[in-house]
Amino acid sequence: MNRLLKLQVSLLEVIDQQEGKVFERDETLDWERLHMASSARCAWLLALERGVDPELAACAASVHDFGRILTGKQKEHAEAGYESVKVFLKETQLFTEEEIDIISMAVKRHSLKTETGTPIEEIVKDADVIDCYQYGYPFDRPEKKERYEEWRHRYGISAARR
Ligand SMILES: [Fe+2]
Repeated sequence: MNRLLKLQVSLLEVIDQQEGKVFERDETLDWERLHMASSARCAWLLALERGVDPELAACAASVHDFGRILTGKQKEHAEAGYESVKVFLKETQLFTEEEIDIISMAVKRHSLKTETGTPIEEIVKDADVIDCYQYGYPFDRPEKKERYEEWRHRYGISAARR
């Protein structure tokens, strides 16, 4: 078992613990479970393409919506997850301090889709957008569509057929 699987198992436990805690959620806990694993897979592949550590990228993508998992709220969920994801990552005992900083910064900044951050941050943003689109989520902000189109053009992928 590698760190990605251990992290995701721990995260699934956290998600299970949220059952019934928040009255109304902007996304279902089932979505959080699926999107966590599926965006991690996208991140792994993007990281391989870009010469970035795929395990770290996939781990960062796995926890990127930690704030929304805890609060149930989409609004400002990236910032909301910053402190709590640091504690969670530390508790897993899977990561160095430096890795925790890299992952938690990617969590904090993943909603800033128009800005360019660290390679891990950029992979998390792209994986997030690609994964949501895969599941048929509409682009609710133009910068998400732009990011998706940019990724598509970069790899010479013809217009999506949906
Ligand atoms: Fe997301």
